[in-house]
Amino acid sequence: MRAPARPSYLTERPRRNRHSEGIRALTRESFVRVDKLIEPLFLIDGTGKNEEISSMPGINRMTEDVALKYVESSLKLGLKSFILFPAVEDNLKDSQATYSYNKANFYLRTIRALKKNFPEAVLISDVALDPYSSDGHDGIVRDGKILNDETLDVLGKMSLAQAEAGIDILGPSDMMDGRVGFLREALDTAGLTHVGIMSYTAKYASAFYGPFRDALASAPKFGDKKTYQMDPANASEALREARLDAAEGADFLMVKPALAYLDIIRRIKDASDLPIVCYNVSGEYAMVKAAAEKGWLDGEKARDEMLLAFFRAGADAVITYFAHEAAAAAAAS
Ligand code: PBG
Repeated sequence: MRAPARPSYLTERPRRNRHSEGIRALTRESFVRVDKLIEPLFLIDGTGKNEEISSMPGINRMTEDVALKYVESSLKLGLKSFILFPAVEDNLKDSQATYSYNKANFYLRTIRALKKNFPEAVLISDVALDPYSSDGHDGIVRDGKILNDETLDVLGKMSLAQAEAGIDILGPSDMMDGRVGFLREALDTAGLTHVGIMSYTAKYASAFYGPFRDALASAPKFGDKKTYQMDPANASEALREARLDAAEGADFLMVKPALAYLDIIRRIKDASDLPIVCYNVSGEYAMVKAAAEKGWLDGEKARDEMLLAFFRAGADAVITYFAHEAAAAAAAS
């Protein structure tokens, strides 16, 4: 057979590097490593409870005893890091979020138990008022406004309580101005210089948090979070937040959500020498699960492609509800 006419301009043939699985492996640029994934856990008070969250299939709210067994199974799969969120009973919530640093707090008790049983696990906390606030906001509310500097005080108290309970890295998710510097100073003054801060640097006012607020029953009781969370239209503002968090002493910078903000991950990665984390949030998880359930897409392939995209965009680590199943899939392959 005669070779077909070859266009004279066709000197570069990228397809040669896609010719076989072996060649594709040689040229592959990004990878998902299980120890780069951070698994979120929803914690509740009591014993023996493992409640399903309807909008997040496969994700449960767990009591301490269940969480201890679950974390053991995650560690066996090669996961090393966990970010912990409390779901607090309504009757323990108040306008000052005092339960957040109450000595009898089950979240602090569970942190202690996890650290004692699994000292090697990296435990990351949630620092914000909303799980404990009767207003459902991340800060203290007065006359319908979210107060910045008054909130810092409460964030400081809950952070010290978490650090003393054994948290390795604080995760301020509240978006108050100056909280990274405030928490760094509070930790250092208390002699807790080894405790790190993973700042929610560019946290957007996003529709993709919906299932999480179901999980914690933490939706705002009035208004929205737009006076503290960022406008999805903005990118320069993310760089400003990154500059401030770095100057205030953050150890990690986080972008949240992740999927619709890949450009922000890349821009902060290029602008900073700190490790960048992105948060693949509840709504991003739920939409893949829902479409897969309907048979509209292959959930496992969509998951793997999504996780890969975060690393390609520049993330050093990814918080994801897919962590456990992705780790299980990696272990099985
Ligand atoms: C609140 C907080 C939220 C999430 C993590 N911490 C929700 C919010 O800001 O209302 C969302 C996580 C997710 O959607 O997976 N401090």
